[in-house]
Order: sequence, then C-alpha cells, then structure tokens
Amino acid sequence: MIRRIAAAVAVVALTVPLAAAIGDVPVTSRDGLVVCSSAPACDVGAKILGRGGNAVDAAIATAFALAVTHPSAGNIGGGGFMIVRTPNGDATTFDFREKAPLKSTRTMYLRDGEIDISLTNAGYLAPGVPGTVRGLGLAHKRFGKLSWREIVTPAVQLADEGFVLSDALARSLNHQLSGAMGRFHASVEAYGKPGGGTWAAGDRLVLKDLAKTLRLIATGGPDAFYKGWIADRIAEDMAANGGLITKEDLAKYEAKERAPVRGQYRGYEIISMPPPSSGGTALIEMLNVLEPFDLKAKGRNSADSLHLQIEAMRRAYLDRARFLGDPDFVEVPVARLISKEHARTLSGTIDPLKASRSVDLGKDIVAPSSQESDETTHFSVIDRNGMAVASTYTLEGSYGSRAVVKGAGFLLNNEMGDFNKNPGVTDGAGNIGTAANLIDPGKRMLSSMTPTIVTRNGRVVLITGSPGGRTIINTVLSVVLGVTEFDLDVRDAVDAPRMHHQWLPDTVTIERDGVTEEVVQKLRTMGHTVNVGGTQGDANSIQVDEAGLATGAADRRSPGGKASTPAGLTSPR
Ligand code: GLY
Repeated sequence: MIRRIAAAVAVVALTVPLAAAIGDVPVTSRDGLVVCSSAPACDVGAKILGRGGNAVDAAIATAFALAVTHPSAGNIGGGGFMIVRTPNGDATTFDFREKAPLKSTRTMYLRDGEIDISLTNAGYLAPGVPGTVRGLGLAHKRFGKLSWREIVTPAVQLADEGFVLSDALARSLNHQLSGAMGRFHASVEAYGKPGGGTWAAGDRLVLKDLAKTLRLIATGGPDAFYKGWIADRIAEDMAANGGLITKEDLAKYEAKERAPVRGQYRGYEIISMPPPSSGGTALIEMLNVLEPFDLKAKGRNSADSLHLQIEAMRRAYLDRARFLGDPDFVEVPVARLISKEHARTLSGTIDPLKASRSVDLGKDIVAPSSQESDETTHFSVIDRNGMAVASTYTLEGSYGSRAVVKGAGFLLNNEMGDFNKNPGVTDGAGNIGTAANLIDPGKRMLSSMTPTIVTRNGRVVLITGSPGGRTIINTVLSVVLGVTEFDLDVRDAVDAPRMHHQWLPDTVTIERDGVTEEVVQKLRTMGHTVNVGGTQGDANSIQVDEAGLATGAADRRSPGGKASTPAGLTSPR
C-alpha cells in the first residue's frame, strides 16, 4: 500500500529544480491565457481566444488538442469535469465522468473472491462508457461562441499533419509500446513508429485514424461519437474482445450540468466540483477544518502547520471513503460535509501537539481503495472578458486501457478501476467495499478530480486543478492555501512543496524540498509516519490580480507544460 502511494505521488521526475522557479519571468496577459500540460495544445486554445473565442471555446479546443498531443491523459475516450464561471459571476459545472456499462456487475472484477487488478489495469473490461465528447459538446451548447467545427478542427489538423515529439513523449511512447500497449495490435498500429524502431525527440507523430475520428466529430458533432460510425467501431471492438460497452451504452450516455460546491475561506469563495467527484467536497471540508487555526502565523512549512493540515486531510479523506459516490445513485451528504458546523466538530478532535490514528477515527472502515492513478491532466483558461474555465479530464491510468479502438485511432479509458470492486470487503491492503462507490450499471465511478475557481469580492482570483489520483485534492489544497492563506503569487504557490495524506494508509508523503529534517523529526515525534520524496501533481494554474491581469503558471513538475497567450507572447513556462 505504501509503495502504491509513493508511486501515486511520484507523478513524473522533476525536470527543473523547484527553487529555480523564483525569479522566472511570469506569463501575463489581459487578453486571455491557456495553461496546460502540452505546449501545442495550449497554443491551440490560445489561438481560439485570439480568434474571438471565449474561455469555453478555448478549453474545448485545448481538450481536443490534448487528445492528440498528450496521449497519456488527453482524450476523447475518457471523461472528466469542467467548471465555468461567467463574467457576470454565475458558475456551473459539467460532469462528463464515464459510466459503468449496462452489462457491468458488482463482482465483475473478482476472480475466486479476489480482485483481479489486471482486468482494470488494461484491456477491454477496463473502460467505462466515455464521456469527454458529450461533455465538451454540452459545454459548447451552453456557452460556445465560435462554431463547434472551428474549435475541433485544430485537433484534426494536429493529428492529420502530425506534431513533433518531445523527448519525454518519445520515451513515454517507447515505454508503452514495449510494455502494456504492445499487447494491443490497434495500439501498435496507431502509436508505433512507421517502419519499426523506437521514437526519438524531434520525430513527427502522425495519427491518421485519430484525424479521421476527430474530423467526424468536427463535422457531425458529439452524435458522431455516440451514435454514428465511431460508436459502431467502439461496439465492434468491444464485442470482438470480450468488452461490455455496447451501442446502447453509447447512445444513452449523457453528460450533466451540475451546480458547483461552494465554500468560504477567509473571505475567498471556493467554487469546485461536486460528486461524482469527491474533490470539491473534500477540499472545502479541509479548508473549513483549517480556518480556525492561524497557519500563517505558525509558518507555511513548520511542523505545527503541517500537522494541522495532515489532521484535516485525515478527517476529510475518511469522510470521502464513508460517504462519497455518484449522487444519481446514492445520497451523498454534501451540505453537511462542507458545513462550518461539521468542520468545527472535526477541528475539535484535533490535538495540536499529537497525531491522531486513522484507524481510531474510522473503526467502521478499514482502508480505502488506492487504485486511482496519476494520469489525468488539468488545464486552466481565462478570456479577455474574465470568463474562467477549470477542467480536469482523464483516461485514469497512463494511456488508459492501452487499447486503441481499431480503425478509430483513440485510446479508451480504464476508469472502472475507480469503483469499489469487492462489495462488503474492506481490508488493510487498501480495498474498500462500502456501498457508495460500488459498481452499478449506468453509475459513475467516484473521482478525486478537483477543478477549482477561487473568487474574492466577486472577481476571479485563482483557477487551478491537478492530476494525481487521490493526491489531487491535497495538491489543490496546497495551491489554494498558497494563494489565500500564505499570500504567495501563483508561480510560488504552484512551485511550493506539497504533501499527501489520505486517511489510510496512515502515512504522510512530503515532497523532498518540502521540509527540513528538523520538521520531519518533529512530525515523527508528534506521531506521524512521514515519507519524504517523489513529486505530486501537475497544477496548471492562473491567478488574476485586482487590475484584471492574468498570470499563468504551468507546473514544472511535468515536462512540456506551457502558459499560452493569444498574442503569441508565450514562454515555455
Ligand atoms: N482517475 C482519477 C480520478 O478520477 O480521480
């Protein structure tokens, strides 16, 4: 279990020392900004802003472009969430989380009573019914200014004409092709180097089948994916390989507009994702628990401050394990969980000098599942009118199910692994069997994705979010606290060291540059089990000052990210 958490935290190797962030020239703009994990995709979004598109247009264009240039997580075969705040202050969210296929069952991943993790790691039983294209279509229908065709077409061109591989992407593709993705003929056809051999930085990756699929989506709209030629290809591939998704699943898939969860922290409003994400609920719960304590006075990375944050995490993640699931299937007590009253009760159980024990707090539950993966991606967008978008979407694992849909050229997710897979069996190895997140046909699996917009006095202050499986919520907590509690600018808030505790295992992981040895020792003396190392998250964020100047900060923990402006005044970071 501890090994799995360490792996979850070690998202990618650092390419730039975090300390080097201080003093970098920030990317600022009054004409809009797109911050994402793959430079060509950020540029696509920024160009859409430059053509008069709004933040939603730019976010949709970026999402489709990421499906081409960031194949480990960018997708049309997965799902995710988007939060939109309009210039007049209204905020809404789009839920395009995948759903369990209609033929799925609660025990479909059990073999001889044990979870067979290979079935959710890769292959044709792993995917949920994809939601991305429907969700982007719904967001466009509500807010789009440019035509759908205009905003999808740049992705078609990127796939059709190809794009130059970075060293990181070349290595990642080689790794996949010689490993899990190599099992799938259609994946090798799509992503293998023509003529054989391995990819190198500077090679051009052309994705003709994906271009064809994206062109159909550009011209036919989301129905091309859910009811047309693409749906036929998915259903055929599934039927041929023992998968469950049918044409009926695809035709019935609906994205949903949902009201965001909202909280208050020291005069800031936090607008975040409601269930089926646990992200917004747990984020607001943690902020509420921390509000009575003066973290700033204690010092950002002092043992006393970190101790309180760990205790808030422990309690919020226990509530997450107990209560969170798809609100269309289970009653989730969101209002209670994000109430100040609940936070006061929880805060009252924190000893400022001593760690509590996770098992003592959650005797009725032994351990949460830890199958969520790092390979998700977040992008933040603002336009010149102040419309703000925070969107996080995912294939779940790196390259999802690793299975490309034959002839259609795109990867399917392996999101079914985010469900609780063994009903009633909760064990110390990290599996949970509680009801809220069990598999049911048509149900959405619980997520930790936490796209978040922070406002103050009616104006946007921060747009943020991150990949990282269950670590996501704590990464977002760190960025939000950085700006709202510790008065950091967005660059420093994104660079600031992060830590993660998720109730069980009862271990806190802190990024290596995060704390001094003295602080680690003090935390251990208080009773915390502390691991130091790894990196956590990829929080591509935007901050807006009182004069309306937006500053972008792509997260240096992940290679290839960028803040792009429509004026082309872009910088690699
Ligand atoms: N698959 C990661 C998440 O949804 O949180």
